[in-house]
Amino acid sequence: MANFLNRGQRRSNAGAGTAGRSCPLAIGPLTLADLESVMALEAVSFPSPWTLGTYHHELTRNSRSRYLKVWPARAAGAGAPVGGAVAQGAALPSLIAQGGIMLFGAEMHIVTIAVLPAWRGRSIGAWLLLALLALGREEGAHTATLEVRVSNEIAQRLYRGAGFEAVGYRRRYYPDREDARILALAELHRDSVWQPLRKRLDALSALMARGVEAPG
Ligand SMILES: CC(C)(COP(=O)(O)OP(=O)(O)OC[C@H]1O[C@@H](n2cnc3c(N)ncnc32)[C@H](O)[C@@H]1OP(=O)(O)O)[C@@H](O)C(=O)NCCC(=O)NCCS
Repeated sequence: MANFLNRGQRRSNAGAGTAGRSCPLAIGPLTLADLESVMALEAVSFPSPWTLGTYHHELTRNSRSRYLKVWPARAAGAGAPVGGAVAQGAALPSLIAQGGIMLFGAEMHIVTIAVLPAWRGRSIGAWLLLALLALGREEGAHTATLEVRVSNEIAQRLYRGAGFEAVGYRRRYYPDREDARILALAELHRDSVWQPLRKRLDALSALMARGVEAPG
């Protein structure tokens, strides 16, 4: 099975001689101040986007929820210095990706994950997914679960790469009645499962801190 351990970052500029277009990325908690950007990301990522009210509730009222975001380590406009290199072309967005989990004791549920279209294919989704798993694991999760549209092959690749396996279906789960595949990653508390993922997370964190290629 393809996984995070046997593939390199496809479009990182690390060591690839693309200095001048490098954009170091940071990861941390999503806040209310990010919600406008989250709405824009939702609109270009999902057929049935969540509303502002849903996200506001998630961040302020749902004690089970944890959300992370990815952003340029130093947000800057065209041609401005970014982390020692210079990002050319379009101005950098204030938010590049976001994802969330809900905690139910020993289970964590991945509720959403999205990367801006122009920034996809740079392992940002993989990095964010692993960071969400680390967060849930720190809070006691032993198993991670999620639903994914049966047609969403890219997302399924992302999850399978982290070791998720199909465990069932939810018929007509989505508002447009598409089926969901249920995926799960068990035994996260065991070192034999977690350490390889932790190693990949650390490697991706180092790569992202050095910078990825910013889109044109
Ligand atoms: C799913 C998503 C988060 C992946 O983000 P990303 O940053 O592009 O993901 P990565 O670069 O880490 O790639 C993850 C896997 O997807 C594959 N992938 C990414 N873009 C791809 C593309 N255009 N075509 C085929 N495979 C692709 C990668 O090859 C990788 O698989 P591999 O490990 O077998 O090589 C992103 O496509 C997205 O935001 N999609 C819309 C929202 C969505 O569907 N979210 C999931 C809901 S369940």
